[in-house]
Amino acid sequence: MFSLNVVSLSLCTFFVVAAANLGPAPVDLGSTASFAILAETGVSTVPQSSITGDVGLSPFSANNFTGFSLTLDSSGTFATSSQVTGQLLAASYTAPTPAMLSSATSDMQAAYNDASSRANPDFNDLGGGAIGGLVLAPGLYKWTSGVSVAPADVVTISGTSSDIFIFQIGGTLNFTSQSRVVLAGGALASNVIWAVAGVATVNSGAHVEGVILAQASVALLTGATMNGQILAQNFVALQSATLNGDSPPGTISSGPTPIALGTAANFTILAQSGVSTVPQSSITGDVGVSPIAATALTGFNLILDASGTFATSSQVTGQLFAASYTAPTPATLTVAVSDMQTAFTNANNAIPDFTEFAGGLIGGLVLTPGVYKWTTDVLINSEGVTITGTPLDTFIFQIAGTFNIAANASITLVGGALASNIIWAVASDVTANAMAHIEGIILAQTAVTLQTGATMNGRILSQTSVALQSATVVG
Ligand SMILES: *[C@@H]1O[C@H](CO)[C@@H](O)[C@H](O)[C@H]1NC(C)=O
Ligand SMILES: *[C@@H]1O[C@H](CO)[C@@H](O)[C@H](O)[C@H]1NC(C)=O
Ligand SMILES: *[C@@H]1O[C@H](CO)[C@@H](O)[C@H](O)[C@H]1NC(C)=O
Ligand SMILES: *[C@@H]1O[C@H](CO)[C@@H](O)[C@H](O)[C@H]1NC(C)=O
Repeated sequence: MFSLNVVSLSLCTFFVVAAANLGPAPVDLGSTASFAILAETGVSTVPQSSITGDVGLSPFSANNFTGFSLTLDSSGTFATSSQVTGQLLAASYTAPTPAMLSSATSDMQAAYNDASSRANPDFNDLGGGAIGGLVLAPGLYKWTSGVSVAPADVVTISGTSSDIFIFQIGGTLNFTSQSRVVLAGGALASNVIWAVAGVATVNSGAHVEGVILAQASVALLTGATMNGQILAQNFVALQSATLNGDSPPGTISSGPTPIALGTAANFTILAQSGVSTVPQSSITGDVGVSPIAATALTGFNLILDASGTFATSSQVTGQLFAASYTAPTPATLTVAVSDMQTAFTNANNAIPDFTEFAGGLIGGLVLTPGVYKWTTDVLINSEGVTITGTPLDTFIFQIAGTFNIAANASITLVGGALASNIIWAVASDVTANAMAHIEGIILAQTAVTLQTGATMNGRILSQTSVALQSATVVG
């Protein structure tokens, strides 16, 4: 009995220690919670912006909402706009709106004063204010002057859903064009506080997570996206930007419209002129060849099913299909091949965000969502490449030349990015050298070779042939 008590007491103590959140105490945002934007002197938009949540303005009047094409509700207490999912509330509207807004703005000022005055920072002037490329742990960070994230750089905020991050910024905050804030490990935008004394600017195409508590004004320029809140003691200006104020973080996607694979998505490997393996390879999912016959499935030791519509192999968890098998297999394959060709064309027609990025030498780089176009070969050297984004973000890589992944090199996904949202649209041959690792969908106009020990999460859809040399593909 006594020893049981001791055990449960020590387990309990351990649990409390393990559950404690890291970083400073949370900042109390009070009654600002429903506001995606709360400002004191004005909120403007260059249509169309998209704001999820409410927008509040006090003490200035509704005259200082610009670009929203407001429709005043018959109650007179709020207005609506096609750019805002919630309500727009101004100090000039009918009671109880003015009193509610003055208490929200007072809570916002108190939150800024608290966040910006916390003492004993864990980090002082980290990176001299240049935080692109850094991974930030929970804590209190203080910069005496400005902070910026360089163009296309990523700053990763890493922690659990209960960890707290407070960034005290004495000057301006500048997220430059195409830069990104990425949350990792379950960290929440609502636990990330950017307390900024100067102007905060989220430039074109940049993405931010967190709550911007600004003493001055905040601008989200064309195509900028943000999960979190903007609570500004001056003005907020949006230019065709997206602010997601009350949905869970990570619900806004960045990058191009996804490429539909149609029925080609039923295959882990689909090829027009053959699929070969040097045993033992391992394929999870189905394999198809068309218009070529089953004789072009080599190295599989096929066992034809009694139905005649498919075969099996010890190297494939699914089924193998060929144009020479019994109906309906040939017709199904014809449609799948046509869908694969359409997907290749659509992927190549996407408008590029980045052209000739790094001259095609992408080893050691971190790639953010978007469309990348190269008219040359692309090489991933032994340093590998990192692809960063949320589970909703999309990536298209248009490669006019060959695509070569060096021996032992890995494509690594971070931030929750998914192989199914990554398209490698390659006009010339694709070669994964020995022990290389690929993530994504390869849409190849010609041959794809996975050399000995190479592994892949995704699909290979080739308009010619696929050669596996004791390789692994998980569809
Ligand atoms: C607020 O609106 C008034 C009247 O339309 C205008 O004169 C003033 O410049 C606006 N203030 C800001 C900060 O936009
Ligand atoms: C942000 O940084 C970029 C690149 O250094 C610079 O061109 C731009 O003027 C800065 N913007 C602000 C508002 O400081
Ligand atoms: C193939 O994919 C389509 C959707 O694209 C689906 O409706 C169909 O059932 C799939 N066929 C097989 C055999 O899995
Ligand atoms: C790849 O890794 C293996 C084993 O770790 C090593 O023997 C081989 O030399 C490496 N190859 C290259 C090209 O780095």
